[in-house]
Amino acid sequence: MLDIETARVVGKGLHRVCYAHPQDENLCIKVLLPLESKARLIEAVREVGYYRLLERRGIPWTMLPKFHGEVLTSRGPGYVFDLIRDYDGGVSQTLGHYLASSLETERHAEELAMSFDLLRDYLLQWKIITMTIKAKNILYHRIGKNEGRLVIVDNIGNSDFIPICNYVDFLAERKIRRKWRRFKAALRKEYPKNTFVQRRFNP
Ligand SMILES: Nc1ncnc2c1ncn2[C@@H]1O[C@H](COP(=O)(O)OP(=O)(O)O)[C@@H](O)[C@H]1O
Ligand SMILES: [Mg+2]
Repeated sequence: MLDIETARVVGKGLHRVCYAHPQDENLCIKVLLPLESKARLIEAVREVGYYRLLERRGIPWTMLPKFHGEVLTSRGPGYVFDLIRDYDGGVSQTLGHYLASSLETERHAEELAMSFDLLRDYLLQWKIITMTIKAKNILYHRIGKNEGRLVIVDNIGNSDFIPICNYVDFLAERKIRRKWRRFKAALRKEYPKNTFVQRRFNP
């Protein structure tokens, strides 16, 4: 069992805590919050299944963190992923962090714009299905002074009862385009004062 009682918390969502791996600075461990429902455990298993499918497909792990298996921790079952770090070593911040500040957005506007296109193309090329795409579940991974990639860390995979889109390319593509349209609309709504968002995601 891996003791994570003193491990650093790098992020927290509604259902999970993300810890820095105590033995490997390039890995993180996601653990369900205490008292999470059974449905969440099932959801975690479904997510692992989808990652396994992507592994078999041989996708490059450039805009998704690579999955490194399960580990039993002092806080229950843990799921190990790449810990996304910027070129300067700091843990990457969420896209929400950048968009919440017009100053931060403008500072990185050009690279951000490019990284949006790269993420959409990546999802389409590799037929990667997501659930709702949200700014708080995307990290802006700065890979150089003027270069970055968006990395989706949550809500990956297909929650459809019959996930036929996982196997039929044109259905996958249609779904991805729909999710992307909704993502853009949600950003416009969530960041009404961010001129970059309003300009770029004008319908
Ligand atoms: N691979 C990662 N590298 C760095 N930070 C991460 C990583 N995965 C998640 N995080 C951080 O932890 C937070 C919570 O993780 P997330 O998977 O979104 O949990 P939840 O399912 O509860 O929403 C994220 O919003 C992000 O800030
Ligand atoms: Mg989340």
